[in-house]
Amino acid sequence: MDNIINIAIDGPAGSGKSTVAKIIAKKLNITYLDTGSMYRAFTYYALNNDIKSNDKEGINDLLNSIDLVLDKENVFVNDKDVTKEIRFENIDKNVSDYAAIKEVREKMVNIQREISKGKSVIMDGRDIGSVVLPNAKFKFYLDASSEERAKRRYLQNIERGKEIPYEDILRDIELRDELDKTREVDPLVICEDAVVVDTSDMNIDDVVEFIINKVSR
Ligand code: CDP
Ligand code: CDP
Repeated sequence: MDNIINIAIDGPAGSGKSTVAKIIAKKLNITYLDTGSMYRAFTYYALNNDIKSNDKEGINDLLNSIDLVLDKENVFVNDKDVTKEIRFENIDKNVSDYAAIKEVREKMVNIQREISKGKSVIMDGRDIGSVVLPNAKFKFYLDASSEERAKRRYLQNIERGKEIPYEDILRDIELRDELDKTREVDPLVICEDAVVVDTSDMNIDDVVEFIINKVSR
């Protein structure tokens, strides 16, 4: 048990969490879990079934019927591969509303803890250091200015073959940050024992090296 390493990576949208966590997982040969993809997949399922975030009964039905599978880079909802769809703009715009629901969070947190049981993991999200892995030995909070994060997301979209105006991305990112930071249940916070990394002027390799150095010490 002693040599289990748990690494929690939290931070706002576009701060580089998933890119960095994926590389570190490979380098350290530990499990990577992208918890944001789980909230995105639930949002996809809710929108597809026309269930609004304030429909308590509908949300409970969805929670009872969803079969969520994360398989390496792919995400499946009730056997449908939704890996691409969960990155679409309608998910970006709605995910924070569904992620604010207590029952949704309880279910996702339980799955995340189950996956991490007894093994070394690196997880990225909003509540990893505060709720999912409060005893993680290593906690990082990645940040960057909202302009830099919007620029990164803009370029990431271009790489994925779609162009969304920079101003729209900036507005959506700032709104999502606000919702994630101010919700009642498990908001995005900076844990007292987290190392804050302002990545505004750092490239991916710099951030990876910084975290690996801390973890290997
Ligand atoms: O990649 P990006 O940072 O844009 O978002 P994400 O990590 O895929 O997360 C999408 C959304 O899911 C966030 O804006 C949060 O509303 C929610 N989320 C959460 O509430 N808790 C987590 N542990 C992870 C994501
Ligand atoms: O997971 P999160 O939303 O925090 O961010 P991400 O999806 O890992 O990163 C968003 C985009 O920014 C990706 O295209 C990364 O390659 C890029 N990025 C960067 O250019 N410089 C960094 N220091 C971190 C990420």
